[in-house]
Amino acid sequence: MGMWAAVLLLGLGVGSVQSKVQAEFAPPTLNISLDDDPEERWAPLLQVFDPDFLKKAAAQVIDSTVPKWVHHAVQPVVMSLEKYIPQPYAGEIRGLAAHFGGSLSDVIILNFAYEVSAFCTSIIAQDSKGHLYHGRNLDYPHEVLRNLTVNLVFLKNGKVAYQGTSFAGYVGLWTGQSPKKFTVSGDQRGTEHWWNWWKNVVSAFIYRRSPVSWLVRETLEKAEDFYDAVMRLSKIPIITGVYYIVGGVRPGEGAVITRDRTGPADIWPLEPVNGEWYRVETNFDHWRPPPARDHRREAANKALNATGQDHINMETLYQVLSLFPVCNGITVYTTTMSAATPEKYQTLVRQKGCRPR
Ligand SMILES: *[C@@H]1O[C@H](CO)[C@@H](O)[C@H](O)[C@H]1NC(C)=O
Ligand SMILES: *[C@@H]1O[C@H](CO)[C@@H](O)[C@H](O)[C@H]1NC(C)=O
Ligand SMILES: *[C@@H]1O[C@H](CO)[C@@H](O)[C@H](O)[C@H]1NC(C)=O
Repeated sequence: MGMWAAVLLLGLGVGSVQSKVQAEFAPPTLNISLDDDPEERWAPLLQVFDPDFLKKAAAQVIDSTVPKWVHHAVQPVVMSLEKYIPQPYAGEIRGLAAHFGGSLSDVIILNFAYEVSAFCTSIIAQDSKGHLYHGRNLDYPHEVLRNLTVNLVFLKNGKVAYQGTSFAGYVGLWTGQSPKKFTVSGDQRGTEHWWNWWKNVVSAFIYRRSPVSWLVRETLEKAEDFYDAVMRLSKIPIITGVYYIVGGVRPGEGAVITRDRTGPADIWPLEPVNGEWYRVETNFDHWRPPPARDHRREAANKALNATGQDHINMETLYQVLSLFPVCNGITVYTTTMSAATPEKYQTLVRQKGCRPR
């Protein structure tokens, strides 16, 4: 309990403005060196995660995501896929299996199982002075992910190349920042079923399509600036549809990209000159109404309107992302970031999610 209390005392929590105090904690931060061999570079995970815990956690995620008979049935398929997985991911996944004593096919399955069911809210906003703020909630119906959340700093030649937030054992990124250049988050689009999913995975590798979270990593590593990032995230073929939310460093550099497998379905930029100083993306196309039972988009829009462009900043954005149902029972973590001030990158794990007030 001591640690959670300390976090709240430091004023990181928004507990003070809510009737119920909710615990948040900062996940561990690890350096991953891209100069190391892919099979070795994830070894730092062992500094903070117990291999037995990781094995149990992996089994839980697989059991609840993949039916048992499918799990058995896909093992040979998964093993034959290994030779199609591109580098450095193939080496990293093999290294993870070796270091943590898991089976290779399970580590591969895990790296795809997470892809299927991330629900999220992402917000990009620009204040009256032209500063950009990017926030995201990652929602996923697995208690155990809260204890697997980890901030990763990817180093190249000993310097920070990019950073992000992920789960121990998962090599892709759904949330990340290229310092002084741009920030990215991904939100799931549509609902894929595992039986389609496996067809997609197989065809993906044969057609050399990338999982959506690998494209985020590749973009963070290679893109020169916001526009280059938007171009790559729009055009490079991926396994499944997704929303990519991107923020830059100069006024107007913000956009929501709605992706089909082969290219962009829509690009929705900020238009601050027309008073459209923020964009909210959950898990539905922005030009269509969300399902009647899902109030996250409207609640976030309302809260941002109430905050106002003059008062948006890292703290008020975090508060918007803390309101129910934007933050809800399955919210795992909240990240707030701004590429122009990379040192302010912050992720907090929602130990108990959020409940209605
Ligand atoms: C996560 O860690 C906390 C603190 O160590 C512990 O109380 C909790 O039971 C863990 N939850 C899971 C699902 O492992
Ligand atoms: C991570 O890398 C940075 C940059 O090289 C360094 O300053 C920091 O001490 C490293 N942290 C750990 C925990 O190794
Ligand atoms: C937020 O403000 C915009 C611009 O004034 C308005 O079009 C929109 O309906 C408002 N949204 C909500 C949910 O209040």
